[in-house]
Amino acid sequence: MDKIRIVGGNELRGSIPISGAKNAALPLMIASLLTDEVLTLENVPRLRDVGLLQRILSNHGVDYSLNGKRPGEDHLAGQTIHFRSERIVDIRAPYDLVSQMRASFWVIGPILARMGEAIISLPGGCSIGTRPVDFFIQGLETMGAQIDIDRGYVVAKAPNGLKGARVIFPRVSVGATHTIMMAATLAKGETIIENAAREPEVVDLANCLIAMGAKIEGAGTSEIRIQGVDRLHGATHRVLPDRIETGTYAMAVAMAGGDVLLEGASTDLLEAAIATLRASGVTITQMDNGIQVYRNGNGILPVDITTEPFPGFPTDLQAQFMALMTKAQGTSRITETIFENRFMHIAELARLGAHIHQDGQVATVTGVDRLIGAPVMATDLRASVSLVIAGLVAEGETTVSRVYHLDRGFERLEEKLSRCGAEIERIAGEGAR
Ligand code: EPZ
Repeated sequence: MDKIRIVGGNELRGSIPISGAKNAALPLMIASLLTDEVLTLENVPRLRDVGLLQRILSNHGVDYSLNGKRPGEDHLAGQTIHFRSERIVDIRAPYDLVSQMRASFWVIGPILARMGEAIISLPGGCSIGTRPVDFFIQGLETMGAQIDIDRGYVVAKAPNGLKGARVIFPRVSVGATHTIMMAATLAKGETIIENAAREPEVVDLANCLIAMGAKIEGAGTSEIRIQGVDRLHGATHRVLPDRIETGTYAMAVAMAGGDVLLEGASTDLLEAAIATLRASGVTITQMDNGIQVYRNGNGILPVDITTEPFPGFPTDLQAQFMALMTKAQGTSRITETIFENRFMHIAELARLGAHIHQDGQVATVTGVDRLIGAPVMATDLRASVSLVIAGLVAEGETTVSRVYHLDRGFERLEEKLSRCGAEIERIAGEGAR
């Protein structure tokens, strides 16, 4: 397995192209199951999770083809993929695939809506929390599905189609909102989702579904109304920029110092994180072609954060912000409210010399003057990039192992950082753990 090696101490200067959002691309790809016509997605990031979902979807009968890179195109530009699910050949999603990527459970909505039946493995455990699927099941039952759990599989049936209904989520869930919204596009009558997730990725999916002929109002608010239609058709949709990748590189610049343009990024997608970074002493400016992030000389100020559903501070930036706070001039409190086990990076950051005290869901970080490079281990996607951010300022060499976590969600991370001056490289495989 590959490792990432970083030698800390360099400022970052230059520009970084921001990729299409992983967490928008995945549900958009799943939406291709709703029509027998071609769904073309542009600006799809080149990520392990995208490749894995392509394989999972082809198992259900989705054909896909990629447009090659055009002459003169930046090799970091997103890819265009055409998906066609002319016939769903398998309504079953097996455990060995769903357990590799939880989001593939979301196929239950489109497959059930289109085929009247879906047999989808329960996803099983996850390193950041238990992540149950009860909201999906209750939501689909409210829409008239009959659901049984049989030997680890959710067996869902709606032979006469799903019916529009009022689905009220007990708490905000991104995946359950995506899934019920997709299912409702082909249900009979009106579905109202209350306490819906307001994440930009939900809006992106809704826009794509509307382009496919769905009738959806209110995406981006906590009440989404969907009028079912008989069928959806093909469309072309561009994946929105990745706000988590944007926030991650903004935090990397905040940590290392310097001046970087995050190309194609928009502050609208991450206002809470931008406000937090500004409070910590970073200058952030929306430009025509992206976001300029600048910190020069001045120290990092401590800021308290609490993770919340959008528009609050995202849990997917919590680890990265904690890495930044390890070098702040004072003490900050970081409260995680979305996942119960999303602090695994604390022990690894401590190996670099960070002072962090964890009490349940609250981490108290006392900034230190120096971090010192050491071998560390990635535990999940966002935790692994927090170790890279810390490595950018740690004295000497930091090696991050288990970087397959990083490859799930960050496209060519070492290349994007090294072109801005970071000393970072990937060390290929043998003997690496
Ligand atoms: C999405 O996961 C993202 N994944 C996650 O990104 C992100 O951390 C999360 O939303 C929160 O923003 C994708 O978009 C592919 P949830 P999701 O359902 O939809 C509980 C990353 O690093 N819950 O909004 O699975 C759940 O356990 C990833 O890119 C139930 O209790 O998250 C959690 O505590 C990781 N029952 C909370 O809701 C349910 O049926 C919110 O989770 C569903 C969820």
